[in-house]
Amino acid sequence: MSQLVEVKVPDIGDFDDVSVIEVLVKEGDTISENDSIITVESDKASMEIPSSASGVIKSMRVKLGDKVSEGVVLLTLEPSDEEVSSKDTKEKPKADAASEPKEQTEPKSKSSKEEATALPPESEHKQSSKTYIAQSSDAGDKVGKTKESPTAAFALSGKEIRNLPHASPSVRQFARSLGVDLSQVKGTGRKSRIVLDDVRNFVKSALSAPGGITTGSSTLGGSGLSLLDWPKVDFAKFGEVDTKPLSRIKKISGANLHRNWVMIPHVTNNDEADITDLEAFRVQLNKEYEKAGTKFTMLAFIFKAVVQALKKFPEFNASIDGENLVYKKYYHIGFAADTPNGLVVPVIKDADKKSVSDIAKETAELAKLARDGKLSPTQMQGGCFTISSLGGIGGTHFTPIINAPEVAILGVSRSYQKPVWDGKEFKPRLTLPLSLSYDHRIIDGAAAARFNAFLSQLLSDFRRALI
Ligand code: COA
Repeated sequence: MSQLVEVKVPDIGDFDDVSVIEVLVKEGDTISENDSIITVESDKASMEIPSSASGVIKSMRVKLGDKVSEGVVLLTLEPSDEEVSSKDTKEKPKADAASEPKEQTEPKSKSSKEEATALPPESEHKQSSKTYIAQSSDAGDKVGKTKESPTAAFALSGKEIRNLPHASPSVRQFARSLGVDLSQVKGTGRKSRIVLDDVRNFVKSALSAPGGITTGSSTLGGSGLSLLDWPKVDFAKFGEVDTKPLSRIKKISGANLHRNWVMIPHVTNNDEADITDLEAFRVQLNKEYEKAGTKFTMLAFIFKAVVQALKKFPEFNASIDGENLVYKKYYHIGFAADTPNGLVVPVIKDADKKSVSDIAKETAELAKLARDGKLSPTQMQGGCFTISSLGGIGGTHFTPIINAPEVAILGVSRSYQKPVWDGKEFKPRLTLPLSLSYDHRIIDGAAAARFNAFLSQLLSDFRRALI
């Protein structure tokens, strides 16, 4: 067996301690000189590090998420026969590419070939690695040019790196320049790797889609939203700061809320319900059922009232599906639950078939699961309409964001005593603020006012639910 060769990180310019965002080979692979081994990414650029020798990989010394600098051993290689014989004829060994810059050759690995058309080799002093510099936003047709753009630069956390879609640096860079979120792109390359054509096709279909496609922080196509870059401020210049990564829930719910806010024409109808009698009834029930451990919450009564309103106004229990409106014959009602990591929406299935006490029990159980981070995906699926109750916290009215593909959401604020004129005198009445946000493409203002007024009537006199 010939002597093992160590392949190290060559001179990669000013880069130090850069993150490994892709490992392109594994133990047992036969690689050729110049085949890409890993991809690293700094805050300014991505680059693939090629092998300085050919042979069979005996051991990998780096993994995804590692930080590497010049001289770090990436792998050990049993050199191929040609490698050994060519080595014999040469004075210096090839194993350490950092010490011996060599002529840039066309990349040989499949992944490198995919991007060879898009990205030319770097300048002389970096010939031992291919360096791709982040580009300005007009890079769509000039993706091959190496041009530094601080605005396109980004840094990724360890978690994000592990979640990166499988794509070469040039593809990621191309996608970034167009504002495409690669997690939405289906890869057609080897092992579902995303190639340039996948990004191009994604953009083409986005541009021809009626509503466009929302990707990352922007929308492609449709309205052709073109927004300014997010302000980049060095906050530490103005005082002490503490930077923490966004929770997974915040990232997911944030993206959903953003899409819903941008794509749905929201209008909010505000109304109030006199819940004096209902609250007295609820307090009475709670006393009666205390020993049985049953609790009747205002939220559970609101669920029942909402179901009645959905039955009376079916377009509120519908969803847009292309050019159709899908009317649902079931009543699965979601409710916003505030958790330490952000907002989630568990769903009570078949709320029409459940009693007020069943709903109270189930909302409490689901809210606990949500706060403990233990909700399963099925417990958050299938919702027809959402209730967001801030009643236990405070506020008067607010504008809840519709939970697409639903078409409306009810925001409930804190009840308060309001002096109401009964024809003879002012009397204190417990009043519940109701804020109904609706999708104006589907629901007219008059229909929303009727829905909210109906809810208000029901909550003011629950006997009406029997009618
Ligand atoms: N007015 C006055 N008081 C109210 C009220 C209202 N509209 N709604 C609830 N309360 C009272 C309750 O009676 C309870 O009082 P008690 O402890 O004396 O019995 C107290 O406020 C706490 O209620 P809460 O824990 O909020 O229970 P809930 O059943 O009303 O709500 C959740 C459950 C899960 C909806 C709620 O805990 C929650 O997470 N709300 C936040 C939703 C949110 O973040 N929405 C924003 C989305 S944009």
